Amino acid sequence: MSQHDARTAMRESRVKAAVALFTAEEREALLTLRRTLHANPELSWQERTTQATLRAALERAGITDVRAIADTGLVATIPGSTPGAPIVALRGDIDALPITEETGLPFASQYSGLMHACGHDMHATWAVAAGMLLRRTPSAGDVRLILQPAEEVGQGAPKVLDSGALDGVRAIFGAHVDWRFSVGEVVATAGPLAASTDTFEIVFHGRGGHGARPQDTCDPVVGLSDFVMAAQTLVSRRLDPALPGVVSVGVVQAGTAANVIPESARCAGTIRATVPAARALLCDELTRLAHAVAAAHRLTATVTLSEGTPPLVNTPLGAAWAQSAVREVLSEQALTSLATANMGGEDFAFYLERMDGCFMRVGTWREGRSRSGVHTPRFDPDEDALFVAGAILAASARAASA
Ligand code: NI
Repeated sequence: MSQHDARTAMRESRVKAAVALFTAEEREALLTLRRTLHANPELSWQERTTQATLRAALERAGITDVRAIADTGLVATIPGSTPGAPIVALRGDIDALPITEETGLPFASQYSGLMHACGHDMHATWAVAAGMLLRRTPSAGDVRLILQPAEEVGQGAPKVLDSGALDGVRAIFGAHVDWRFSVGEVVATAGPLAASTDTFEIVFHGRGGHGARPQDTCDPVVGLSDFVMAAQTLVSRRLDPALPGVVSVGVVQAGTAANVIPESARCAGTIRATVPAARALLCDELTRLAHAVAAAHRLTATVTLSEGTPPLVNTPLGAAWAQSAVREVLSEQALTSLATANMGGEDFAFYLERMDGCFMRVGTWREGRSRSGVHTPRFDPDEDALFVAGAILAASARAASA
C-alpha cells in the first residue's frame, strides 16, 4: 500500500467513525432533509418553504424551542447541562442561487433557474445534525442553532445580529462545503478565511457632442477608459505586495450612438481584501484616483462605495476550539489549510466582528466524484460531509462552552 493509499484508507476510516456517531434513523432523517431542501431551493429572503421544512425537521428531532428570526430564518435552542455556562451558536445558511441545475440527480432542483449550487442545503442540514448530537450529549451551556437566510446577498448575518438571537453568545461556529478537499479534510485556521466584498460605482460627467468634433466636448468615455487602466495600479503599486487585494471592473456603460460623445459614462466593480487596512487603502485610493483621472480629462466624478461584508477573520480562540473538535471527531491529519487566500466573501464575517469563533471549510470531494465547484450547475458534494461537519460543529460547541 502506497503512503497515499494508506492516508486515504485512514481518512476513510475516520469518516466512517464520524458517520457512525449518528443512528441509522438520524442519518435517514438528515439525508431526507438535505434532499428535500435541495429539490426545493429558494433565493435570499424568499426562504419560506425552507424555513417551514427546517422547523419541521428540528421538531421531529425533538428540538422544540424554535422561533423565527430575521424574517425567513430560525433560531433553535438546545439546553445545556450546566446553568450559567457560556452560550455557543452554530450557524447554517439556507439560501440558494439563480442557476439551473444540471446534475441529473434524482433529488435535483424542481425549479428551472434555482439551485442549491453553493451547498447551503448541506449547511442547513449539518446544523440540524449538530443539534441531534447536542441533544444526546449536551454542551455545558445552551447552544443556539442559527438557520440564517440571505447569505448570498450578504444581508442575512446583520439581520440575525439585529434580531438579538446572538446576544450573550460567547462564540459562534459555521462551515462551508469545499470541493477542493476530500471528505474528512477540514480547514479551521486562525486569521483571514474570506475577503471583504465592497462594491463601487463611478459616473464620469463631461460634456457631450458630435463625435466629429471632440474639441467641443469633454469626453467621459476616454476618461472612463483611462480610469479602468489606472485602477489596475492600485493593487500593483499602492497595496503592500504581501497583502492580498483585488479591484475588478465588471460594468462599463456609456453612449447611445457611434457618432455621439455622451454626457456621462459609468463603471462599477468589486474591491476585495482580507485585512481591514488593505480594505481601507483600496477604497480610499480608488476614490482619489477616480477624481484625479476625472480632473485630468476635464470631467467630474461621482464615486459611490457600498460596504459589503467585512473580511472574515477567525479568532485564535475560536480556531483553537474548532481544531480541538476536528482532532476529536477525525484526527490531527484531518486539519489542512488553504494554499492561498480566499478572495470570495462570506457574511459570517459580521459575527466574528462581535464574538470569538471559527468558520471552517469542510471537504466534500470523494474519489470518482466530479470536480465541479460551487456556483456551477453540476455541483454535487458528497453527503457524508453532513455527518462529519455535524459532529465537528457539535464538538466545537462543547469545547467553547466548557
Ligand atoms: Ni456559500
